[in-house]
Amino acid sequence: MIRPRRPCIGVFDSGFGGLTVLKELIAIAPEADYIYFGDTARLPYGSKSAETVARYAVGAAQYLEQHGAQMLVIACNTATALALDQIKQASSVPVVGVVEPGAARAAAASQVRRVVVIGTEATVSSHAYAKALQAQGIEATEKACPLLVPLVEEGWAKHTIAEQVARIYLDQAFIGDFKSADVLVLGCTHYPLLKPLLQKLVPAHVTIVDSADSTARVVSDLLRKGLPKLSSETERRRIPRLEFFVTDSVEKFRRMGEQFLGSPIEDVEHVELKE
Ligand code: DGL
Repeated sequence: MIRPRRPCIGVFDSGFGGLTVLKELIAIAPEADYIYFGDTARLPYGSKSAETVARYAVGAAQYLEQHGAQMLVIACNTATALALDQIKQASSVPVVGVVEPGAARAAAASQVRRVVVIGTEATVSSHAYAKALQAQGIEATEKACPLLVPLVEEGWAKHTIAEQVARIYLDQAFIGDFKSADVLVLGCTHYPLLKPLLQKLVPAHVTIVDSADSTARVVSDLLRKGLPKLSSETERRRIPRLEFFVTDSVEKFRRMGEQFLGSPIEDVEHVELKE
């Protein structure tokens, strides 16, 4: 029997955080196989300029396409916010970023039409989320939370230090007109790990929108409409094949990545990207 070809999706992130998006993709769109590129040698992107992020992200996207990706998911909020247009121009396959899906979900969830977005310094400075939300008639305030990424990477997502830091950021974001905001958008790959803590800290009426989960749903819809050649239920249910490419230590990626993906990481290869 000839097996139906499974779609191959390339997932790009500055490092480990995009594994939260991959985790959702595996859960929501298990009918595809995934190749993941983590630019661990050059993270963090969140404090870099738009030119630098675009150069790095385009190189990584091209690498994924050359390795067979038929669709690209830009899991990194910073890369999406700063370089989605350049990545799309340099790619010949469909490209999905995380900002639009997160903003669309937030717009659908907000009753009062006021939303708070948290992300890296670079994502917030780009106002990509505010623009995407404004286009849907939503007022947004954006708050950079630069200390949250290192806290999560330290494994302190449940630590009281993380709680104290997050409380300060949220108090500064939910002020003035935005005291009544009813949606908090997690505009960074690392924040889904902080979700239980953030849920405790935000006012009870606030819904948390996770752009990882929103993006996975968009990808799943695209797969159902376009890419798949799935012929049987069995094939659809099969566990995705995962391959990882990283620009820094394979060992560190395995160790750190597990907390983001929620399962052990096996097939990892080190790559050098020529600029
Ligand atoms: N992946 C980045 C993001 O979602 C966070 C980590 C970084 O700054 O590279 O914005």
